[in-house]
Amino acid sequence: MLDDAQTAPPDETAGAKRIKGLYIKTYGCQMNVYDSARMSDVLAPLGFRPVDEPAKADMVILNTCHIREKAAEKVFSELGRLRDQRDEMGHHDQIIAVGGCVAQAEGEEILRRAPFVSMVFGPQTYHTLPEMIARLERDGGHPVLNTDFPAESKFDSLPEEFASQGPSAFLSVQEGCDKFCTFCVVPYTRGAEFSRPVAMILEEARRLVDGGAREITLLGQNVNALHAEGPDGKEWGLGRLCYALAEIDGLERIRYTTSHPRDMDDELIAAHRDIPALMPFLHLPVQSGSDRILQAMNRKHTADDYRLIVEKLRAARSDLALSSDFIVGFPGETDADFAQTLRLVNDIGFAQAYSFKYSPRPGTPAAGLGNPVPDAVANDRLQSLQQLLNAQQQAFNDRCVGETMAVLFDRPGRHEGQRIGRSPFMQSVHALCPERLQGQVADVLITRARPNSLGGEIVTGVRVGSAGQ
Ligand code: 5AD
Ligand code: SF4
Repeated sequence: MLDDAQTAPPDETAGAKRIKGLYIKTYGCQMNVYDSARMSDVLAPLGFRPVDEPAKADMVILNTCHIREKAAEKVFSELGRLRDQRDEMGHHDQIIAVGGCVAQAEGEEILRRAPFVSMVFGPQTYHTLPEMIARLERDGGHPVLNTDFPAESKFDSLPEEFASQGPSAFLSVQEGCDKFCTFCVVPYTRGAEFSRPVAMILEEARRLVDGGAREITLLGQNVNALHAEGPDGKEWGLGRLCYALAEIDGLERIRYTTSHPRDMDDELIAAHRDIPALMPFLHLPVQSGSDRILQAMNRKHTADDYRLIVEKLRAARSDLALSSDFIVGFPGETDADFAQTLRLVNDIGFAQAYSFKYSPRPGTPAAGLGNPVPDAVANDRLQSLQQLLNAQQQAFNDRCVGETMAVLFDRPGRHEGQRIGRSPFMQSVHALCPERLQGQVADVLITRARPNSLGGEIVTGVRVGSAGQ
């Protein structure tokens, strides 16, 4: 059933824009989360306001992920559900749009398989959503397909006004990838590497902090490959940018994701040594521990290169905790290759990690390789890897018990009086805590560890000017 908001959308004031419901469902990485927030900002001047379910929306956007097969399949099943719901409601004017990486890679296919979709746009064109909506209206509902890689960057046209993201905010600083790992669609869906100018990044960071952000996570598909134009006319890397961000008053925590081992340069490592606000948790995907497989993946680093980088990072910041992505069952992966992956995991000791079964992606070089690993073998490997990684995560969490950690509280918990925050190491921490600590960093004595979260007790109240270590 429709509620009042859909049956009789209220006018804000006489003559003002009609308020329209916007529902965005986000799949995949944090980059997509950032993009979804910006889509909402782009559509706000047209009268669109976020609603909490598709049934209430005049426009539904699926912001999609193409990284693995399952992620892409989910989009088509969700589209079917949306169409059924729209038909049941008789809400025929509802715009169903598909954005993001599936749209970029399979735009035509989406319109063929789901002809009720009226708009398809890639990650580089969402700043033109108002034009796309106007085009749709002008062309009598004829679907709009916009998957170009425009010469001008969307960042030059995104609105300066944005909705607050709360205490922990994302800031996109870099996009695209020139690495061409043989399994990965990103270079094709997100395009070539591009870095935003430093002045623009710092300006957005200041605005986020003014809007209540205490923590900023810098985003990029290859964020540490940042080559941004600096205010001094020189090229700045990510390390240099972190030093500049650390100067912003009120910004207590800086994070960045996702990094490539090859781009972990000395300045960035030094930034981990020098900047207390740079959080001691790093997602640094290695994918495999076998040099043979790393080469077939075109990763351009060996397992020992990775060990050495981690050693340097830990020398710079002894409490640094690591996270990684792994792929098992890459074509040609033998038991011996997989054993090398387990060895690397044992050598490094991860605080957290994601592991995936290889899935061939259309158009990527690895999809054309023979020698597939039988599914049952890949499943077994995935299971043993996950067992090891889960044990490491539990051990890391267990070691936190008895420690006092700075926690940035960013959301209410399920129980009365409880709030949830993030530790410096990205663990969710639950504690009974006064509401005034929402959006603040407070010291918490950790009293219990679960596989995916910690629990504790507030010890000091708000820390003023804390670096959050
Ligand atoms: N199959 C399985 N996992 C993949 N990833 C990227 N492409 C594939 C693929 N074709 C994983 C990598 C990457 C993470 C975001 O997704 O581990 O780091
Ligand atoms: Fe994909 Fe490799 Fe680029 Fe990461 S570095 S986005 S895995 S091609």
